[in-house]
Amino acid sequence: MEINIGIDTKNREQIAGALSKVLADTYTLYMKTHNFHWNVKGPMFQTLHLMFEQHYNELWLAVDAVAERNRALGFPAPGTYKQFVALSSIKEDDGVPKAEDMIRRLVEGHETTARTAREAFKLAAEINDQPTCDLLTQRMQIHEKTAWMLRSLVE
Ligand SMILES: [Fe+2]
Repeated sequence: MEINIGIDTKNREQIAGALSKVLADTYTLYMKTHNFHWNVKGPMFQTLHLMFEQHYNELWLAVDAVAERNRALGFPAPGTYKQFVALSSIKEDDGVPKAEDMIRRLVEGHETTARTAREAFKLAAEINDQPTCDLLTQRMQIHEKTAWMLRSLVE
């Protein structure tokens, strides 16, 4: 059945493309946060181990919401590591960083994802796609708040 929600196919495809980048950043940040939850060491262990767990649980729910918006727009959601590596703007880590470097890299990851979401928002707003704008607004809010909280640990 054809999709008839008041956004034409070309525009839906463009938004799905922008959302795929948000999904790839979010998934990569999810993985980074879970990795750091497993491997963090040092005097801040307890705090960071638990904080990272809260963050990766939130990110895990977010990837689902973003992917399902792609589907509602009529396009596939990327779902392989290969696609995520190609689409993501977040650098992966080699080895195990020191606790403070983990925090800095997570701040960068949240800020990068906020920027990617903000780019996608511009497009969604132009195209008059309110549900995508709503989703992206929520994502930006979370990423910016999380970046602030993490940054506060190292200032
Ligand atoms: Fe765990």
